[in-house]
Amino acid sequence: MNIVVYPGTFDPITKGHFDLIERAARMFDKVVVAVAASPGKRPTLSIEDRVALAKEVIDGIDNVEVTGFSCLLTELLDQQGARIILRGLRAVSDFEYELQLANMNRAQAPHVESVFLTPAVENSYISATIVREIARLGGDVSRLVHPRVADALRAHYAKETPSGQ
Ligand code: COA
Repeated sequence: MNIVVYPGTFDPITKGHFDLIERAARMFDKVVVAVAASPGKRPTLSIEDRVALAKEVIDGIDNVEVTGFSCLLTELLDQQGARIILRGLRAVSDFEYELQLANMNRAQAPHVESVFLTPAVENSYISATIVREIARLGGDVSRLVHPRVADALRAHYAKETPSGQ
């Protein structure tokens, strides 16, 4: 079976991520969306919330699964019986970091290949950082994320600052 692992922090999962997941689901037998704990990035949403939201967003696509992980990515690939990593490229500015990640992963596991997909143009400007910033300031993120993600962000920031601002 041709399994691809799509890792990320997904804080939160956006329509840009979903765009890539749909494309990968058409290309591979199975897609594993791997939500990294990424404690060093001090994510806004908990790992449990990020996994739960990813599961809701991908609901209905048969060959996609979601898992949380806090080990090395290459270890997760072994656990999943996978040899392919998927990452997204939104713009040239993403490339340098992605090349570094791919080379680091190859150094650790030479049998693992990284593949890159680009989202549709209308999703290419979406970044999780910008989504969080707009939501934190009470803006409308409905064009950028699934409605359940928008609700979760609203609830999160309403708790953080009772005024929602
Ligand atoms: N501090 C806080 N947040 C940060 C950050 C930082 N230094 N750098 C990035 N972020 C946030 C941003 O919100 C960014 O989203 P955006 O670009 O949509 O705005 C989001 O994290 C994504 O960052 P990025 O670094 O591009 O990728 P990622 O976090 O989605 O994925 C992993 C990186 C999970 C694939 C990689 O860290 C990994 O494989 N981790 C597992 C452990 C491992 O094997 N490490 C060695 C890899 S060689």
